Amino acid sequence: MQIPNMIYGTAWKKENTTNLVYEALMEGFRGIDTACQPKHYREDLVGLGLEKAYKNGIKREDLFLQTKFTPIDGQDILNMPYLKTDEVEIQVEKSFETSKRNLKTNFIDSYVLHSPIFPTNKLQIVWQKMEEYYEKNEIGFLGISNCYDLDVLKYLYKNARVKPKVVQNRFYSQSGYDREIRVFCKTYNISYQSFWSLSANPHILNNETLQRLNTKYQKSVQEIFYRFLNHINITPLNGTTSLIHMKNDLKISDFELLSSEIKSIETLLY
Ligand SMILES: NC(=O)c1ccc[n+]([C@@H]2O[C@H](COP(=O)([O-])OP(=O)(O)OC[C@H]3O[C@@H](n4cnc5c(N)ncnc54)[C@H](OP(=O)(O)O)[C@@H]3O)[C@@H](O)[C@H]2O)c1
Repeated sequence: MQIPNMIYGTAWKKENTTNLVYEALMEGFRGIDTACQPKHYREDLVGLGLEKAYKNGIKREDLFLQTKFTPIDGQDILNMPYLKTDEVEIQVEKSFETSKRNLKTNFIDSYVLHSPIFPTNKLQIVWQKMEEYYEKNEIGFLGISNCYDLDVLKYLYKNARVKPKVVQNRFYSQSGYDREIRVFCKTYNISYQSFWSLSANPHILNNETLQRLNTKYQKSVQEIFYRFLNHINITPLNGTTSLIHMKNDLKISDFELLSSEIKSIETLLY
């Protein structure tokens, strides 16, 4: 299974989710990221967007569908896919079944734990429940998000029967741009996905290096930065609501940055 080089993000789109997902797919996005977390995502409307795209020639087998199990701390207690009183493995079960129903599929390409859970024995219980679905061939990859502590990732990797294949993190200076985590991911063949890639980094987008590359390649600084992320093995999540941005961002594979240019952007990650 191939992870696309850019994934369409569906958070905060509310009632526009159906149309934006449909448009993103029709423009050429093949990866969709969502979560069973009604507070931030309308996963049900993602499903309607998918359905609309299928009617217009898009094929399920060409898509990479990613959703998440959100632990109770990340949920709105009045609107969540399980009960507060459910045992945690029942919470995973209810959330996973809701996701399949919402996304109208029996197979989730990537199922991500939205954030680490403490204590670690509880993390283990949740991960083992996720592994069960993987072993029943209902999941392609398991992943973890918001994991900024390398020791937690190492712990998970060491103790998991089914190893994490995806890390999805905020790409920002406060975490040192996850330098060590990204080295770990590369070593163990884990795909690293970034969010806040643009919004957390105006200082990079405004830097003269990117401005110069903008003139050279006739690509926006956002496109240059997304291209750079691909060059350093990062898959950015992109939640644009603009059709023009969708079209242009999907064309970033049309140009290559020189290795000296990649290095000069890398020096801005501090
Ligand atoms: N795991 C987690 O906890 C977590 C947390 C946050 C997000 N996510 C995921 O990541 C996705 C992306 O969220 P994000 O916070 O990284 O930001 P984003 O939704 O991708 O927002 C990017 C912002 O940059 C603007 N922009 C300007 N030029 C652009 C260009 N060429 N291409 C794209 N955007 C451009 C967009 O405006 P326009 O709309 O006008 O283009 C938008 O305001 C979410 O939808 C969600 O799936 C996950």
